[in-house]
Amino acid sequence: METIEEITEEILNCRKCDLHKTKTNYVPGVGNENAEVVFVGEAPGREEDLKGEPFVGAAGKLLTEMLSKIGLRREDVFICNVLKCRPPNNRDPLLEEIETCGEYLKRQLDAIKPNIIVCLGRFAAQFIFDHFCLDFTSISRVKGKVFEVEKWNKKVKIIPIYHPAAILYRPQLREEYEQQFRKISELLNRKQPTLFDYL
Ligand code: URA
Repeated sequence: METIEEITEEILNCRKCDLHKTKTNYVPGVGNENAEVVFVGEAPGREEDLKGEPFVGAAGKLLTEMLSKIGLRREDVFICNVLKCRPPNNRDPLLEEIETCGEYLKRQLDAIKPNIIVCLGRFAAQFIFDHFCLDFTSISRVKGKVFEVEKWNKKVKIIPIYHPAAILYRPQLREEYEQQFRKISELLNRKQPTLFDYL
């Protein structure tokens, strides 16, 4: 089974689509390769492109703050995007870019085998739902709900929530957002019953 390091190495040399020509840096992902939870965003923005790290701009600061509210540091989780290069002027990802680059995300998930996948926004949610054969309607219908799939010989939870940038534009959603992070925290703390629990 390949490691996150091996996948990162490949991403850093990728020329599978034209985005590598306009990017400053590849943004493969950061965090813990043994993470229990993976956060998936859409694509790097300006700050991320300059730094080579996901979610380091304004939306990233909000994500980091939400994580710290539930006692998580960025290095406790794994954070990445569907696309590993910034689309020019932050335009929406194209279908073919999602299909091509999304293969890296699938391999990253296979390497980490997280218990929880949090989809940040509609592009991430659509991609993850498609990959796990779930029916995606719209982010406003599914946000905050927990979907369970069978993967890597265990039950894996998928939670689509708003993209943190949406909360920056609509601060009235912040309370609901904090509640969704508390839900993630509860799921993380819910340990699997052991034989000991039945004795
Ligand atoms: N928005 C995203 O979807 N990803 C980032 O890394 C930054 C902003």
